[in-house]
Amino acid sequence: MIPNLHLDIYEDTDRNALADTMEVMSAAFDPVFGEAWTLPQLAGVMMMPGTWLTIARLDATPLGFALVRSVLDECELLLLAVAPLWRGRGIGETLLRNSFITARRKGIISMNLEVRASNNAIHLYEKSGFEYVHRRPGYYRGNDGQLYDALSFRIDIGM
Ligand SMILES: CC(C)(COP(=O)(O)OP(=O)(O)OC[C@H]1O[C@@H](n2cnc3c(N)ncnc32)[C@H](O)[C@@H]1OP(=O)(O)O)[C@@H](O)C(=O)NCCC(=O)NCCS
Repeated sequence: MIPNLHLDIYEDTDRNALADTMEVMSAAFDPVFGEAWTLPQLAGVMMMPGTWLTIARLDATPLGFALVRSVLDECELLLLAVAPLWRGRGIGETLLRNSFITARRKGIISMNLEVRASNNAIHLYEKSGFEYVHRRPGYYRGNDGQLYDALSFRIDIGM
């Protein structure tokens, strides 16, 4: 864990938070897979009720973020990303665990996610207790037009 890392949670549109998230977004996602969101997509989902964004910062520098959308007592992890130079130091896991805590505080009992079947993030999700639910063949289309399977995972987080 990185000393002085702090997490900020946003439930409404915040210009600075959107800019910091886009900074990590543009560095974190491999363009081949076309998984990075655009600023309008991010701003659009932040306007939906039940969405929250958690940003991990060291001083003022954004290192990672988690984006979650909830409906009633369920939620979906939409995006999780850490800047490449800061990976392997527990920031992704910290963001995920904090998302569980925030979800529980909101009375949410389960979290779902979809991830490309070849994404190493699956190691983190399984380590954190997510269970495989099913495979969606050809669910994602990369920027090169290639199709990639998605795996869906779920975890019970209610207590
Ligand atoms: C997935 C991602 C968020 C992980 O962030 P991170 O800060 O490096 O993760 P952590 O350091 O907290 O890793 C925690 C655990 O996850 C696992 N893990 C994370 N990345 C891994 C990788 N590339 N390969 C294998 N295991 C990995 C490890 O088990 C690790 O535990 P350990 O330290 O005991 O070995 C980061 O790699 C990323 O931003 N990827 C690109 C964006 C993306 O594809 N996000 C997921 C879909 S939205």
